[in-house]
Amino acid sequence: MTSLKQPIAVTGRNGQVSHALTRLLRDQGFDVVVLARPDVDLADTAAVRRAILAARPAVVINAAAYTAVDKAEDEPEAAAAINAAGAEAVAAAAAEAGAPVIHFSTDYVFDGSKAAPYVETDPTGPLSVYGATKLEGERRVTAANPRHVILRTAWVCSPYGANFVKTMLRLAATRPELTVVDDQHGCPTFADDLADVVRQLIPKLATSNAPPEAFGVFHAANSGDTTWCGFARAIMAASQARGGPHVPVRAILTKDYPVKAKRPAFSRLSTGKLLAVHGIALRPWQPALEACLDELVGPAS
Ligand SMILES: NC(=O)c1ccc[n+]([C@@H]2O[C@H](COP(=O)([O-])OP(=O)(O)OC[C@H]3O[C@@H](n4cnc5c(N)ncnc54)[C@H](OP(=O)(O)O)[C@@H]3O)[C@@H](O)[C@H]2O)c1
Repeated sequence: MTSLKQPIAVTGRNGQVSHALTRLLRDQGFDVVVLARPDVDLADTAAVRRAILAARPAVVINAAAYTAVDKAEDEPEAAAAINAAGAEAVAAAAAEAGAPVIHFSTDYVFDGSKAAPYVETDPTGPLSVYGATKLEGERRVTAANPRHVILRTAWVCSPYGANFVKTMLRLAATRPELTVVDDQHGCPTFADDLADVVRQLIPKLATSNAPPEAFGVFHAANSGDTTWCGFARAIMAASQARGGPHVPVRAILTKDYPVKAKRPAFSRLSTGKLLAVHGIALRPWQPALEACLDELVGPAS
């Protein structure tokens, strides 16, 4: 339970992380103010500022973003308005309200050319408009509010919203076979686990004597890695164990599945800094997937 006297402000309502966060924090007794459309559009920076100042928050969490990776290639201004200018407005208003900000970013800030897990200090090099706007958001949040935590995460899934797990289950119900790319490596990460990271961070950041090293960029992803194909096969196995839809998954190459935005071939995130500085570790992605399927399909028999 919380002893905070001021609320936690969360941007976004129906998003995977927004939804998971609001649910978990309310369950834990936090007073949560949701800043979401239609009242608060991140593209309307004046509305963002007004809403955050009115909320008088202890901590502001920016879980809202323009997340349509392929569509962003055709809508760079719309993506930047939310992921860069909107994020900046959230962080600046939090600073004006005297609150730290927790902001989410992405593994897509990297170009994928590294062969070992990415650490926070590795050079960035986004391959897509989405990745570039998120990187610009990181820069602006950093400049707007010195009391920021930027959580770079990856491959987010959950029982809520649109995501890879739900897409695979839907397709498995109607197709004899799935074909999924097997040459992109990353860290499947579950929104409920990210919400729990935020829950643990809040008391550490909401105090006026948080040390400087508590702030900055951190990687936050479930541990372990796989390819999209490996992930899809694990989803099918977990669904089958619950009597849910399951079909064979055939591995294909990225070049055989053309999409608008280029993705990094390797974006495994090292989460050692989050553990070293905050003592927070995320579980492996496999049990997190099982928990997600418990909600989506039912318990395993
Ligand atoms: N999804 C991934 O695989 C992934 C991977 C790496 C990093 N991330 C990052 O993780 C964070 C959370 O992602 P997610 O998967 O939870 O996203 P999501 O499910 O796509 O949800 C996006 C959220 O942003 C809100 N939003 C979009 N445009 C908005 C606007 N103009 N004004 C106000 N709110 C707006 C949506 O609002 P409504 O509630 O109105 O729908 C929704 O709540 C984001 O920063 C994302 O960049 C995601």
